[in-house]
Amino acid sequence: MHGNVRISGAKNSALPIIAASLVSTKKVILENIPDLVDVRTMIELVEYIGSEVEFSHNTLKMHTPKIKNFDAPYDIVRKMRASYYVLGALMARSNQAKVSLPGGCAIGPRPIDLHIKGMKALGVDINVSEGFINAKAKKLIGHDVNLQGPKGTSVGATINVMIAATGAKGDTVISSAACEPEVVDVADFLNVSGCHVSGQGTHTIVIKGSGSAKDVEYAVIPDRIEAGTFAVAAVLTGGSINITGCCPEHLASVLDKLEESGGRVTRKKNSMFVNGHGRKQAINVYVAPFPGFPTDMQAQFMALLATVPGTSTIKETIFENRFMQAVELMRMGADITIEGDTAVINGVRQLSSAYLMASDLRASASLVLAGLAAKGETIVRRIYHLDRGYEKFEEKLRSLGARIERQSE
Ligand code: EPU
Repeated sequence: MHGNVRISGAKNSALPIIAASLVSTKKVILENIPDLVDVRTMIELVEYIGSEVEFSHNTLKMHTPKIKNFDAPYDIVRKMRASYYVLGALMARSNQAKVSLPGGCAIGPRPIDLHIKGMKALGVDINVSEGFINAKAKKLIGHDVNLQGPKGTSVGATINVMIAATGAKGDTVISSAACEPEVVDVADFLNVSGCHVSGQGTHTIVIKGSGSAKDVEYAVIPDRIEAGTFAVAAVLTGGSINITGCCPEHLASVLDKLEESGGRVTRKKNSMFVNGHGRKQAINVYVAPFPGFPTDMQAQFMALLATVPGTSTIKETIFENRFMQAVELMRMGADITIEGDTAVINGVRQLSSAYLMASDLRASASLVLAGLAAKGETIVRRIYHLDRGYEKFEEKLRSLGARIERQSE
C-alpha cells in the first residue's frame, strides 16, 4: 500500500467531549468530530437529554439550554458503553442522573466500580438497582479520590469524575489518574469552556469546581489508534504510507515497536512517513496504560507479527478477553498460541485467505489488515464493528491501493 492518508478526529476524545458539553448552558462548537456510529449514538443520547445538535462535515454544534431528561436509557447504553460519560456531565450540571448499567462486552468484563467510587467521593448518593446507576446529590463537594484500579489507571473513570468535579463546590484531586492523550483533550476542552482543570497528562489532576460559563469552539485531537492502524498497514504490506493530520508524539510506544520489528518511521510534528520495505524481525509487546503500548493496537500488531519470521509475544495486561482475533488469524494459517494473558506468535511466510468473523472494533481492523496481506480473497463478516471507530475505513484503504469493497450480508 502506498500514498497519503489523512487521519480523522479521535473517537475516544469526541465521545466524552460531546457528553461534557452537556455541563454548559452556552453554545459549543466542536471541530474534527469523526462521523462514526458511536458518535451518532452519543448525539442521539444528548438530544434525548435535551441538547439541540447540528452535525455536518465533522463539525458539531450543540446547545443545551435545559435538561429535559436526566437518564440514559438502556436502549442507547447497550449500543455503546461510553454513554456512561453522561453520568459525570449530568451530575455536574444538575446533581441527578439515572444511567443504564453498561454490560460486559466482547473484550471481557468491564466493571465501573471506579466511576462509582469517584462519584461517592464527591458526595453523590449512588446505587445500582434494576440495571440502572441511580445518582443524586444536594450539592457535589470537591474531594480527594484515588482511582487506581486492579489493572492500573482507568481512562473512563478519570474522565467521568473529572467532568463531574467541574460542577462541585471546592477542589477535587484525582490521584492515580489516567494520562492518555484523550484525558488531556477532555481537560483542555473543559478549560476552554471556562472550567479550571490542571495536571492533565500526569497521574494527579486537580479540578477547581467552578462550572463552565463560556461559549466554546474546540477541535478534538487526531485519532492515534487510527493513525497506528495505517502505520501497521504500511509495514504489513511492505508498502509506504504518508500519514497526515496525526500526532506521532501520542504514538511513541507504537512507533518504537514498529521500528523494532523492521519498519522505518520518519516523524514530523503532525505527520509521519512509514516505510515497510525492510527486513522484519520478531518482537515482544507488553500492553500498558499510556505512555505504554496501547491495548487498542495489539490486535493490529498480532496481524503484523503473524507473518514476521521468528517468535513474537504480546502480553495483554488490561482486558482479559482481547485475543478474539487470534482464532480467526489462525484460520488464515497463523501460528498463534494463547497462554493466559500472553499470545505467542510464530511468524509464517504468508497468510492465506479465509472467511472471517469480526468480534470487536480493533479485532475487525486486525482481520482487515491480515486480509490485505494474505494470498487470495478474504471475506470479513460483521464489519459493523468497524463503523463504530474508523471513519471511511475502506475508502481510505482503497485510496492507498487496497482492493477492498463492502458488500451487504
Ligand atoms: N476498570 C475497573 N473498574 C472501573 C473501570 C475500569 O476495574 O471502574 C478496569 C478495566 O476493566 C480495565 C482497566 O481498568 O481492565 C482499564 O479500563 P479503562 O477504564 O481505562 O477503559 P475504558 O475507559 O472503559 C477506554 C477506551 C477503550 C480502551 C481503554 C484502554 C473509550 C470510549 N474506550 O475504555 O477503547 O481500550 O480505554 O485504553 O475511551 C476502543 O476504542 O476500541 C476501546 C475499547
